[in-house]
Amino acid sequence: MSGYFITFEGGEGTGKTTQISLLAQHLGRKGYDVIITREPGGTAGAEAIRYILLSGSVAQYGPFIETFLFTAARADHVSEIIKPSLQSGKIVLCDRFIDSTRVYQGLDNKVDAHIFSILEHIGMKGIKPDLTFLLDIPAKLGMERVNLRRKKIEKIDYFEKASLALQEQRRQAFLELAKHEPHRFQVIDGTCSVEVIADQIKDICHQALLAFP
Ligand SMILES: Nc1ncnc2c1ncn2[C@@H]1O[C@H](COP(=O)(O)OP(=O)(O)OP(=O)(O)O)[C@@H](O)[C@H]1O
Ligand SMILES: [Mg+2]
Repeated sequence: MSGYFITFEGGEGTGKTTQISLLAQHLGRKGYDVIITREPGGTAGAEAIRYILLSGSVAQYGPFIETFLFTAARADHVSEIIKPSLQSGKIVLCDRFIDSTRVYQGLDNKVDAHIFSILEHIGMKGIKPDLTFLLDIPAKLGMERVNLRRKKIEKIDYFEKASLALQEQRRQAFLELAKHEPHRFQVIDGTCSVEVIADQIKDICHQALLAFP
């Protein structure tokens, strides 16, 4: 693969979508060929699955079914968008990826670990993020931001409805993942201003992309 794969992870309202868009603009100005994509979604089939997942209509059937749906969406997304883009030398910026599944569906090991790892394998098709930004903020602040955003533009989705305690549990689970893979993860203090965070992310990317053509 001649491209570079960067993922943005973190709980609700941590600033992933804001930062991904700023980084794409910045790298584009520097002459890099960049694409932005997101999970669940990114292809027509995966966006259809996103619609079902975010509606919350499958949640009642438990994390097993949910994990299968995320896997189907990811497998399509990886083969149709991410892999071809990396093969053609692009920088792929993805809003959530495997770590969100590990945290949201993997919490409390409700899905058998062996099955979970087989599904990861199926979904990722041999690719892995080169770099992952984990935007970290207290769950309470994330919820406040989501509530504020909701008033302006969007309605709240199923995953955003989780209790504060669960959101905080997810935050700790993300941090735990980062601890286990310190070379891939960059944990960013998401409580700073948008501009300060964007500058940090730019600096880290410049270092990471030094060896990139
Ligand atoms: N550093 C920041 N300081 C203050 N507000 C911020 C910051 N970053 C983002 N916001 C605001 O917080 C809200 C959530 O940001 P954003 O949509 O980027 O988060 P997200 O991580 O993509 O959320 P979600 O997981 O729900 O998609 C937006 O209204 C955004 O403008
Ligand atoms: Mg977002």
